[in-house]
Amino acid sequence: MKIAVCAEADASEPRVSATPETVKKMKALGAEVLVEPGAGVKSGILDADYEAVGAVISRDAVRDADIVLKVRRPNEAELGAYKKGALVIAIMDPYGNEAALQVLARADVIAFAMELMPRITRAQSMDVLSSQANLAGYRAVIDGAAEYGRALPMMMTAAGTVPATKVFIMGAGVAGLQAIATARRLGAIVTATDVRPAAKEQVESLGAKFIAVMDDEFKQAETAGGYAKEMSKEYQAKQAALVADHIKKQDIVITTALIPGRPAPKLVTAEMVHSMKPGSVIVDLAVERGGNCELAKADEVVDAGGVKVVAYSNFPGRLAASASSLYAKNLYTFLEVLIDKKTKEINLNWDDDILKATVLTRDGAVVHPNFAPKTAA
Ligand code: NAI
Repeated sequence: MKIAVCAEADASEPRVSATPETVKKMKALGAEVLVEPGAGVKSGILDADYEAVGAVISRDAVRDADIVLKVRRPNEAELGAYKKGALVIAIMDPYGNEAALQVLARADVIAFAMELMPRITRAQSMDVLSSQANLAGYRAVIDGAAEYGRALPMMMTAAGTVPATKVFIMGAGVAGLQAIATARRLGAIVTATDVRPAAKEQVESLGAKFIAVMDDEFKQAETAGGYAKEMSKEYQAKQAALVADHIKKQDIVITTALIPGRPAPKLVTAEMVHSMKPGSVIVDLAVERGGNCELAKADEVVDAGGVKVVAYSNFPGRLAASASSLYAKNLYTFLEVLIDKKTKEINLNWDDDILKATVLTRDGAVVHPNFAPKTAA
């Protein structure tokens, strides 16, 4: 059984899908591990580090690989080099990319999308959305603080007092909760909002104040999977009024709101941005899904009349070594589900909820119910 660890074709992606630690574990599972040259460099891992744990560095790593590990979905040219029937495991970004999924199907690979991992206890250690969002939430505060021209904690000095910075976190999921914790550690005064009622207690337990329109719709806004639903126009209007009033008093706003499979909700209008004091900062973590702030532009710091709007399309990639380390562990735990420890062979149990939830393509077709082409009635 051969496992290939790829260098990312997208030059803006610094993460890698395996670390020396996980290579060691894959070898213990009976795999021969081949790594493309330079695959780990941007995450601080040298080819020699992989070789030291028994991996082979090879330009042809994918050629006979039974399993291909990647960070991002492979493109058509990359897929051309893969073996038919190979298992390809990555963050596939399937929503809105139906054509790319057809390309995966035509390449006749068995593609698994790590971000579709079900949120069940057994799969927690394979949950890439959580492992990466946690780091993104931390990094957003660090980036926001770096752009902000003042100190975050209150400082009482002989030369005078620096007031504490007011930080508002919109969306209190995995990224938002880590952002709250990080901003609190830096001494900011933190408030947060979300549309899921469960978030209120979590926000408060981190020492932040919860702010939201808590009507009947709010009380039912969580899906069985723990995600947010898209809110009604009426709710959004009430939420916008509340946010508009709060935001103008804030120094740093960090937005993390997402709805699976939908564009990110627009929560911060241009008018709200302009209502903030010059020198304030907005950090938009949702820009890859269209952004929560109307003025956010991917990978730019926009100056909106003195208010900086910061948005990077790959926040976890800005902490590449940490992000790769956690992502690689997520992938390794998933491999343990796909490989029989006794026979040291691939053994796919298609009745397993983890496989059912994550498989996108099989036998030359898109098989995931959310993305398979609808057959005419
Ligand atoms: P996400 O990344 O999909 O969304 C981020 C946050 O934005 C969510 O909290 C969502 O409610 C919020 N949001 C959506 N629309 C909004 C709006 N209009 N205004 C304000 N906020 C809005 O969510 P994430 O972070 O992946 O997880 C959501 C929840 O799932 C977690 O807080 C947790 O309770 C649960 N979870 C469960 C896991 C498990 O059981 N294995 C693992 C990870 C998370």
